[in-house]
Amino acid sequence: MNKQEVILCENLESDLAHALGQCPHDRVFVLTDEHTHRLCLPLLSRVDGLKGAGEIVIGAEDTHKNLATLASVWQALSDGGATRHSLMVNLGGGMVTDLGGFAASTFKRGIPYINIPTTLLAMVDAAVGGKTGINFNGLKNEIGVFAPALSVLIETEFLRTLDSRNFFSGYAEMLKHGLISTPGHWAELLDFDAGQIDYALLKTLVGRSVQVKENIVREDPTERGIRKALNFGHTIGHAFESLALAEERPELHGYAVAWGMVCELYLSCLKTGFPTDRMRQTVRFIKEHYGTFAFDCKEYDRLYDLMKHDKKNTAGVINFTLLKDIGQIALNQTADKDLIFEAFDFYRETMG
Ligand code: GLY
Repeated sequence: MNKQEVILCENLESDLAHALGQCPHDRVFVLTDEHTHRLCLPLLSRVDGLKGAGEIVIGAEDTHKNLATLASVWQALSDGGATRHSLMVNLGGGMVTDLGGFAASTFKRGIPYINIPTTLLAMVDAAVGGKTGINFNGLKNEIGVFAPALSVLIETEFLRTLDSRNFFSGYAEMLKHGLISTPGHWAELLDFDAGQIDYALLKTLVGRSVQVKENIVREDPTERGIRKALNFGHTIGHAFESLALAEERPELHGYAVAWGMVCELYLSCLKTGFPTDRMRQTVRFIKEHYGTFAFDCKEYDRLYDLMKHDKKNTAGVINFTLLKDIGQIALNQTADKDLIFEAFDFYRETMG
């Protein structure tokens, strides 16, 4: 897999002009959703390389991350005369960068693309690391390929207009990067005053967070080993997310991951010796900023079934990434049903 260039922008227009200049192409296509088309694309109007670019606009909700939308993007590329030498720019949140990256990397067997993430979740996670895809058959990211963007341009000025829930959704992935990296980065994330955001400090933290992910992806681009560290909190988090969706009370991905991390920190304490005081500090932060996800013991079996269907499992055994301490990863861990239910009990007692 090619290495992707991740740039923390000082000036998005000139960084984009530079990125476009580095990749010879015949036509450029810009993919946006309805919101980023209206609010973000005009900010790039002075970039010469985008003059005459084909504009492809898709719906903004996650429900559009499907085969029909993907086909509409391929169709627009085809109708717009895209060739193997064309280039795509994906401007939006994780839905746009995931679907756009997949559309680009499959069109005519693959054209290059640049990601410009506009949400915190996309900046620190979705747009970086080459995972692309769509939802299919009721399953998230069921179809996709590893295909890194040429460049990922991170402009944190977009975060000034992000609503609080989407801010915290992305911040959960940053917290995860803190837990899997160093005590210093973890502590500075817990200290950050999210009520009174210092955007210069946020930019520094985003830069560090992306670096954590980049280092891991460089070592293991296709998730054979250490990249599984990025799944911390996600085994139980995905079950919360799926249950919430099935019960028609959808939750943002990062919230589900934050609550999943509460359970998986508890499992880490029991199974791999994660320090209890660090678990309690993290849980306190999550409770304060994310509230809780309500469920009762009658739903434990359903959550367990959802976990059994996770695509990260092998031979039906539920696979966890746990922690021995901050930055000390224990891959390919298992936990039996009783222990998982104990983690749910802990969650409800602590977060309820
Ligand atoms: N979102 C986890 C990963 O990119 O591997």
